[in-house]
Parts: sequence; C-alpha cells; structure tokens
Amino acid sequence: MNSFAMKSGGRMPALGLGTWKSAPGEVGAAVREAIRAGYRHFDCAPIYANEAEIGAALADAISAGEVTRDRLWITSKLWGSCHGRDNVVPALRRSLADLRLDYVDLYLIHWPVALQERIGIGYPRSAADFRTPVEAPLAETWAGMEEAFSLGLCRNIGVSNFTATKLVRLARTAEIQPAVNQVESHPYLPQTALLRHCNDNGIVLTAYAPLGSGDRPARVRSVDDPVLMNEPVLSDIATRHGLAPAQVLVAWAVQRGTSLIPKSTNPARLAQNFAAASVSLTDAEMIAIAGLDRGHRFFKGSLWTIDGSPYTQKTLWD
Ligand code: A2P
Repeated sequence: MNSFAMKSGGRMPALGLGTWKSAPGEVGAAVREAIRAGYRHFDCAPIYANEAEIGAALADAISAGEVTRDRLWITSKLWGSCHGRDNVVPALRRSLADLRLDYVDLYLIHWPVALQERIGIGYPRSAADFRTPVEAPLAETWAGMEEAFSLGLCRNIGVSNFTATKLVRLARTAEIQPAVNQVESHPYLPQTALLRHCNDNGIVLTAYAPLGSGDRPARVRSVDDPVLMNEPVLSDIATRHGLAPAQVLVAWAVQRGTSLIPKSTNPARLAQNFAAASVSLTDAEMIAIAGLDRGHRFFKGSLWTIDGSPYTQKTLWD
C-alpha cells in the first residue's frame, strides 16, 4: 500500500475508507470489515453523524487484537459552527470522545465557511446562520488548529475544500503549514493545478468522491450530471485488466500521487477497492483516463452560497 511520509513522522496510507453516507447501523460493521480487509486509514467527521459508532467499532477491533492504535490513521474534521480560535480544541475533544481516541492522526478544517455557533453540527438554513470571513477569519481558526496540535490532540493538521488561493493566504500567517488538503477529485475534476500546488508545497491532496459519489444525496444531484462509473474508457481498461471500473479509478488516483477515500459499506466492494490500490496502469491508460477531465464538480458547495450568504461560488472557489 502506498503511503505518504508526514512531517509529524507518521505515514498516511494512500487509501482510506470514506464514511460519509455510511448509514448508522452499517458503518460500524463496514469499519470492522475494512480492518479485516487491510484498511488502516479511516476518514471521519462529526457532520457524518456516525463518529460514535465508528469509535465503538475501532475499540472493538483493538480489543479483539485485530489492529493496534498505532497502526491506524484516523482523520476527523472541524465543522463550520466551531470555527474561531477558542472553539477548535473543545470541538476536537468531542470528536475524540465519540471516536474513543486520545488523538486523531489528522484534523482538518472541513470547509472554509464559518457558521453561527448556535447551529451546532448541522447545515445553515438562512443567511443569518453564517459568520462572515471577517467575523471568523480562517487564520484565527487555523491558530486554534495549531493549538490542538501542540496539545497533542492531533498529530497533523490540514484543510479541506481549499483552493490554491486559500492555501497561499493561509500560508502567510500559519506557523504550521497544512499537511493535507482534502478536495473533490476524480477524472471529471482531476484538480491538476491544485495537485501541482500541493506537491510543490509538501501538502498531500486527498481525493474525496473518487468514484464519482453515485450515492450522493438528492440535494447535490442534478439531472444532467454525468455518471463517472459508466464511462466506456473506464470499462475498456477494466476489462483489459480483469477489474471493475471502480478499481480503475482507485488505481488511477493512487498512481497519480493522491490519497483517496472511496466509501463503501459492502464487504466485496471494500475488498475490491483495497486490492485496486496496488494495481499498475500503463502510461497510455493514465493518459486516456486524464482525457475524461471536464472540470465537473459534483459538490459545488451550494449550501454555503444560499441567498444572502457572505460566501459566493466565486469566493468559495476563488
Ligand atoms: P456501496 O457503499 O454500496 O459499495 P464515492 O467514494 O466516490 O463517494 O462513491 C461511493 C459510491 O460508490 C457508493 O455508492 C458505493 O456503494 C459505490 N462503490 C464503492 N466501491 C465500489 C465498487 N468497487 N464498485 C462499484 N461501486 C462502488
């Protein structure tokens, strides 16, 4: 399994298990199954509303002797209502309690969007539910992330859904540079320029929705969205290697030097995705897949840019 050497000294396995959309009652079994299949990297967040079930599954796996804590890589994320220097440590402590851990390996700012504290772990419904970037500057929130790091509550800190512009701005005031930027990435949206920026600055890019997120909720779905896994280029390459199209997507993401967190709760597909992380594609196949680029973003962050919000599509994806 490919892995990334982190400045903290640890190694992040390239392939992790995504847990967004994994239903309560299913996610714990999926995590146990994934550990048995060889997964060590688990991507979590309080907004996925399943950290407590994941924590129970991790604790059970550890006490059953299936894995030790030091072999696991656990990521969690800071929700928008917890932005602000003084809110980060308490928010992380809540995730740690749910996950039944003393530390996470990586803690990310989930979105560059601040919400009112009263929203809790939930979504905004009106313009009044936001805090502006002036009221809650990302630099201040980052200072809280640095504090969480210095307390040993997280071994690495990073961001998610940041553009290169936002990474450059953060770098100006950060004492610790982000280790990871987790963003949507797949052949329809390969994020080539952002990946180059991350590589040049020692930041690992983790791809979310690497399989095209076919199970995304209706609110982020439009009728004219293309279906990534139905692309003939992928099925042709898959047939040639005796693989499933999803496995070609996993192999492509690993081979181009990203980390990725495909979600599955199905034991057979979990195993398929894990096996695919060690598949090699030819240069010609890598180029053919890169040809699918159409700058198509499935997750536009429209929830953040509702009428009257201080955030717009232009400022979100600047
Ligand atoms: P399931 O959980 O039933 O396996 P993404 O990671 O891009 O968000 O995509 C997740 C979607 O892809 C889920 O619907 C998941 O379904 C499906 N999926 C995951 N692995 C595979 C696979 N190997 N083959 C087909 N579909 C997969």
